[in-house]
Amino acid sequence: MPAAGRGERLGANQPKALSPLAGTPLLVHALRAAVRSQTIDVIVVAAPADRIDEVWAMLAGEGASVTVVTGGESRRASVGAALAAMPPEVDVVLVHDAARCLTPPPVFAAVAAAVTAGADAVVPAVPLADTIKRVAGEVVVDTPDRSALRAVQTPQGFRRAVLEQAHAAVADDLTDDAGMVERLGVPVRIVPGHQDAFKITHPLDLLVAEVLLGRRTEAAT
Ligand code: CTP
Ligand code: MG
Repeated sequence: MPAAGRGERLGANQPKALSPLAGTPLLVHALRAAVRSQTIDVIVVAAPADRIDEVWAMLAGEGASVTVVTGGESRRASVGAALAAMPPEVDVVLVHDAARCLTPPPVFAAVAAAVTAGADAVVPAVPLADTIKRVAGEVVVDTPDRSALRAVQTPQGFRRAVLEQAHAAVADDLTDDAGMVERLGVPVRIVPGHQDAFKITHPLDLLVAEVLLGRRTEAAT
């Protein structure tokens, strides 16, 4: 679970994953969803270097087998650090952004099931609402057929050896792990994602998350 980013676009004056949503850090919400999926045995969190002790304390008692490692300067480096700390017997790995803190537990289960069923790499995907334009500077170049495009989310699931090979072989800093696996020429499968798995990136996302969480709490009472 990469959680070591600075959260510059959110502008919360502290690492995004440690920022509160309804009084609880995003990372804790994300970890609880993973635990509730009942498909995850071990969680390795990549945390900001200067907040390691605090993150250990925050996650103790969440009912999961959690390890906290020091994240890196890039998301990719943080995932690499967490991957290196995975126990040797783990052969299916899900990489999940702490910032996608309201991802429904069944998404974790669906991704894990697809890898267990034989896929090397699996990403949750959703159709796009907006029309996408390819541009060069201020000029539109073309309009890709939206029906062939998907927005991808996390958790992204991998056979561990494939993800390790991708991290070893691909030098570019891509924004997701599946992109690195694609570079190896390994097929990446999609499973249905979920609107609630959106990434908290900008302040508006936090407002949406607060409303969504409030509705879930109401529905549960
Ligand atoms: N991440 C990480 N290590 C980094 C950068 C990002 O572990 N060096 C994590 C973030 O904590 C987040 C996920 O990767 O859970 C997705 O990254 P992003 O949404 O870009 O988060 P930030 O990098 O924190 O935000 P920003 O880019 O706005 O600074
Ligand atoms: Mg970032």
